[in-house]
Amino acid sequence: MTGPAPPIALLAELTHRCPLMCPYCSNPLDLARKEAELSTETWTRVFREAADAGVLQLHLSGGEPASRRDLEDLTQAAAQAGLYTNLITSGIGLTQRRLKALEAAGLDHVQLSLQGTTSATADRIGGYDGGFKRKLQVADWVAEIGFPLTLNVVMHRQNLHELEDAFALADRLQVRRVEIACVQFHGWASRNRAALQPTRDQVAALKDSVAQARAERDGRMVIDFVPPDYYSDYPKACMGGWGSTGLVINPAGKVLPCHAAETMSHLTFATVQDAPLGEIWKNDPAFQAYRGEDWMPDLCRNCARKSIDFGGCRCQAMAIVGDPTATDPVCSKSPDRAKVDQLLATDVTAADDDFAYRR
Ligand code: SF4
Ligand code: FES
Repeated sequence: MTGPAPPIALLAELTHRCPLMCPYCSNPLDLARKEAELSTETWTRVFREAADAGVLQLHLSGGEPASRRDLEDLTQAAAQAGLYTNLITSGIGLTQRRLKALEAAGLDHVQLSLQGTTSATADRIGGYDGGFKRKLQVADWVAEIGFPLTLNVVMHRQNLHELEDAFALADRLQVRRVEIACVQFHGWASRNRAALQPTRDQVAALKDSVAQARAERDGRMVIDFVPPDYYSDYPKACMGGWGSTGLVINPAGKVLPCHAAETMSHLTFATVQDAPLGEIWKNDPAFQAYRGEDWMPDLCRNCARKSIDFGGCRCQAMAIVGDPTATDPVCSKSPDRAKVDQLLATDVTAADDDFAYRR
């Protein structure tokens, strides 16, 4: 019997600590405490195991990964293991000196998140006064050093009016890639779904703007687009299929098939202390649970799109239908699609300021 193909990417959540308080945070409701975080030595071992298991890309994430004082050492360990390293950061906590040290450590790429394109919006959404100004400073330092930079703009009802400005900012910073990512309602974000859910009119305008921006920047900027899930006819291919292309390790060392997997309370997840990463990837029951097609309901198993979206997001099926083996309720063929439509109808009537910061 052949095992699964090797994982391509590892998302290493180095810490849940973060100076920002974004209401759309997708980290779980219960955060790992600093004392529970994996040590430098353990992450170093895990990065070697990841490379041995076939991982090519390592995303250093959080929380805010710059909250780890050993970020430079961790980056060096990952580079020495032969991994392509991408730092996913809000920019807060990075200085010019640290960025230069990260370059020396072998960092390959920076992905900077934006909460908005003005101080008024970005600082309000991030809950951090002065954050936007510092972020722009970090973007300039990143450009000076010459790191490839991706701007990740997280969009929702309360900042979609700044979309055009986001493209203009990307032009000014001469970035090669922009990710326009509509909020996915996992973790803390699910608490703020109603206040962040875009309206139907906003979504129509958003799609037009993205199409136009792509046409205008063809050949010089790649624009990735993660559309708002609830307005789609078909679900996203979450994680490229469960246990199929990537894995996540949380700050305390739990090895997860996706960042929201801990909402699957019926599953038990191994930690990096239990077995080498490659073994967990191949054999752990939590990874096997929804790998391939055996778990699929007949609706998906007999559908031509099963090799495109793999039945959608298991965590979303769990959250909305209460059944991790259900067809993703976003799917227009799902018997549960009406539940999503009902949520949409009530969400868009919520007040804008009615969100809870991630504290
Ligand atoms: Fe995807 Fe299943 Fe819907 Fe088909 S029925 S489009 S496989 S979620
Ligand atoms: Fe877990 Fe989609 S977030 S499968």
